[in-house]
Amino acid sequence: MADGFAALDFTPEVEAAVAPLWERVKGRVTPLEWRVHAPLIAEINRIKREKNAVILAHNYMTPEIFHGVGDYVGDSLGLAREAARSDAKIIVQAGVHFMAETSKVLCPDKTVLIPDLRAGCSLASSITGADVKLIKQRYPGLPVVTYVNTTADVKAETDICCTSANAVQVVEWAAKQWGVDRVILIPDEFLARNVAAQTDVKIIAWQGRCEVHERFNAADIAEMRIAYPGAEILAHPECPEEVLAAADFAGSTAAMNDYVITRKPKQVVLITECSMASNVAADAPGTQFIGPCNLCPHMKRISLANIHEALVKEQFEVTVDPVLAARARLAVQRMIDLPPPAEPARYDLVKARHHVAVELI
Ligand code: 13P
Ligand code: SF4
Repeated sequence: MADGFAALDFTPEVEAAVAPLWERVKGRVTPLEWRVHAPLIAEINRIKREKNAVILAHNYMTPEIFHGVGDYVGDSLGLAREAARSDAKIIVQAGVHFMAETSKVLCPDKTVLIPDLRAGCSLASSITGADVKLIKQRYPGLPVVTYVNTTADVKAETDICCTSANAVQVVEWAAKQWGVDRVILIPDEFLARNVAAQTDVKIIAWQGRCEVHERFNAADIAEMRIAYPGAEILAHPECPEEVLAAADFAGSTAAMNDYVITRKPKQVVLITECSMASNVAADAPGTQFIGPCNLCPHMKRISLANIHEALVKEQFEVTVDPVLAARARLAVQRMIDLPPPAEPARYDLVKARHHVAVELI
């Protein structure tokens, strides 16, 4: 075809090729939608083989991406680890821009593509490398722990990165290595407050927020408890402290996933991005998923259509200045080199119920 795209029809061959995937998503995707998704899934999977490409898909991707084309699916920590060990020539990041940058930082020789350059993050845009330089001047000698939800120039000013799956472990490691009792943990204020409740290390925090998780509050949880008294409530640590204090479990997206798969609750509320529930549902047939959830507008910029276009045109390539990347890599690699937790890290809710002050920059 003139634009270089193959005809994408829902032929019997396509239907047969993606039949096992349909079995996984049919509770969450309608047959009408599947007629549009299926030819794209078959074609994306064919091009991946042809070009030696892999797709790293975050837990917040829609189910047709997550189950249909993701070669590795998981939380931010898992995606970073997978990027580091991948031997593919091309990585397509089905997630947001900071995740693609992290992959590029870890894999400077690979081509890293993001299907939509506008897929940002309110946390990543809350702070710059220049801000971190000023913070270091204000708190000389204290280690800087930075959430992976940041740009490469912020990571380049950082001592070690963390994700919500290992933030407590990383903060305690940094305090011990530096021989100090205070650690700078930026830029997510709520993650910092939630980590502060879990450790004796004092936390200095920045006022960044995840625009998805900051919208939840204790009243949402109280309403859910009345409407669904048997439901188990799981919250992400980017939520305000009052939400964690009222929840039954808190952890990263991978930890929430693990909780549902292993504990098999009858009814569950996932206090996080909406696609999480759709993706876990495929492996949790006995669990009823109840709202509320919020959509991340950045994650939702990624679609099967733009993943397909990214692979065909090899766009949009994410590049990081090599000198900056080398500095950022030290911080990400330090995190990856820490021993992985025996099980997905959970936040102790008894501790979460005791308010601990943080110093806000
Ligand atoms: P995790 O997948 O690390 O829990 O992060 C959630 C998130 O908001 C990523 O943008
Ligand atoms: Fe950023 Fe929040 Fe969206 Fe994750 S869910 S990409 S932290 S805005």
